[in-house]
Amino acid sequence: MTFVVTENCIKCKYTDCVDVCPVDCFHEGPNFLVIDPDECIDCTLCEPECPANAIYAEDELPEGQEQFIEINAELAEKWPVIDTVKDPLPDADEWVDKPNKIDSLEK
Ligand code: SF4
Ligand code: F3S
Repeated sequence: MTFVVTENCIKCKYTDCVDVCPVDCFHEGPNFLVIDPDECIDCTLCEPECPANAIYAEDELPEGQEQFIEINAELAEKWPVIDTVKDPLPDADEWVDKPNKIDSLEK
């Protein structure tokens, strides 16, 4: 199994999640983070850390978020590892919980 970053991370990127990951499996893009499914050891530590509640186990994804399994796997191969917390994106608090943010995903 793996954990998966879902839509609500887009345009927020709070990065609290990366601080607790024991195997550094988060990868960073311009406005989103993903988890490398080949590295995640299902430790569960990141899930409660995300202020946007964007992280789920792959078998507990909310309806409509299933496509993020493939998006995480695909982009983890392309984006660099992030293992240090940084400031969220400037308008993160305005974008959190907005619908249809997938249209803004920058790859
Ligand atoms: Fe990292 Fe654990 Fe989260 Fe997987 S579940 S991404 S290993 S913190
Ligand atoms: Fe994104 Fe939440 Fe991490 S918003 S960067 S998954 S703390």
